[in-house]
Amino acid sequence: MTIWMPELESIPGPRYRAIAHAIGEAISAGTLAPGERLPPQRRLADALGVTVGTVTRGYAEAEHNGWVVARVGSGTYVKQPALRATFDMARLPSDDSDVIDLSLSLPPPHPLRQQAFSHALSAVSTSPAALMRGVSYLDARGSEGHRDLLTEWLAELGMPLVSDELLITQGGQHGISLVLNTLLRPGELMAADALTYPGAISAAQQAHLKMVGITFDEGGMSMDALEAQCARQPPRLIYITPDQNNPTGVCLSEARRHQLVALARRYDIWLLEDGVQYLPVEQRGIPLYQLAPERTLFVFSTAKVLAGGLRIGILRAPNVLLERLATGLRAQSWMVPPLMVDVACHWINQPAARTLLEWQTKELAARQTLAADILSGYQLSNRSHGSNIWLMLPDGCRALELCERLLHSGVKVSSAEPFCVGSTPAPQAIRICIGAAKDQQALSSALATIKQSLTQPPNTPVTV
Ligand SMILES: Cc1ncc(COP(=O)(O)O)c(C=O)c1O
Repeated sequence: MTIWMPELESIPGPRYRAIAHAIGEAISAGTLAPGERLPPQRRLADALGVTVGTVTRGYAEAEHNGWVVARVGSGTYVKQPALRATFDMARLPSDDSDVIDLSLSLPPPHPLRQQAFSHALSAVSTSPAALMRGVSYLDARGSEGHRDLLTEWLAELGMPLVSDELLITQGGQHGISLVLNTLLRPGELMAADALTYPGAISAAQQAHLKMVGITFDEGGMSMDALEAQCARQPPRLIYITPDQNNPTGVCLSEARRHQLVALARRYDIWLLEDGVQYLPVEQRGIPLYQLAPERTLFVFSTAKVLAGGLRIGILRAPNVLLERLATGLRAQSWMVPPLMVDVACHWINQPAARTLLEWQTKELAARQTLAADILSGYQLSNRSHGSNIWLMLPDGCRALELCERLLHSGVKVSSAEPFCVGSTPAPQAIRICIGAAKDQQALSSALATIKQSLTQPPNTPVTV
């Protein structure tokens, strides 16, 4: 019989969930081996000072997550090899690399992600309805049932949307690209913050659009600069990430949200609001799709909350545009594979989805605090629960040279260059994706390397 005893003090939330979480962690760390028996419930309850009912619920949740199996009259056992394979998959390709890659905006890794995926796959593979959907052609916008379920999930995340106004896309990037290709004609003008998400820049280029970068400050996009642009040549669409600019983390102030909507109405401009970079609801401002539902398209995706590999996004559009967008989606790929939508829906339904998001939210906040400590004295811009940090370099330091030097020292970050819209000059700054580090220790080590590099004199060779 195993002598495994969980340590619950550092795990937040209800005790039964903490027990389930500890079981998942122990399996992932190899402390609990496949086939091993969990402690008898009464013994664990006594040791932890909780009721037997709490342990029963914790074990039931672990079983629901697919980690253990209860055998009547015998006890609860860690599941055998099929599950083990998913733990091995938890090793990211970069685990073997000497480089700590902080150049991609990823949610922090946790074994629950692979485990929830595994469980969702199993559930789909045994659901007659999901199997039937998986081999059928469905509505280009996604089945009504899928959209209803995603709507419930979005409401839980603090995004009150209407199922009838949604299209399911293959990720947020697809949503952006679909909107630009469907609503704008080649040569038309799209405006965005002068520094913005590179995927939007690339989608605009693919759609042969012209782009103009609007200056911004700590309150977000400058409405004076936007108004001046509208007076010269109004854009057909404004792409914006109001809660958290990528890369700088800047949030558009409430007053400017109202001004933006007023300008969009005056000049008849579409608004493309991107909320993919997830923040807890208390950290977000009022969404543009609530302020101007008649002209706002909103993109969200499962990438930063569940996993990027699912490729499931949600596009909210005004009623008058739905059929046009559905036609565009149909022309591109007929529909999103129902299989992946079912996987996402089964994942969302698991308690593990909530546990993972709660953990991730706290983890990102802890990582932001850690980064602020290590890089204290430098000029940082970030959101307290965001997954990126924007570091303005001290005088004399050049971003491209620093990025190269850091890569030699085993840390990968991005310069400002990929985020520059049109001919916006690149500021001397770097984006550090703190979520991408495998744990806080790796993050500390990378940040210490960055800090040390900032104090070293640049070493640019003289070339003619
Ligand atoms: C602001 C923003 N929008 C959209 C995306 C793309 O999301 P998805 O992976 O769902 O296509 C990203 C990805 O990092 C992003 O940062």
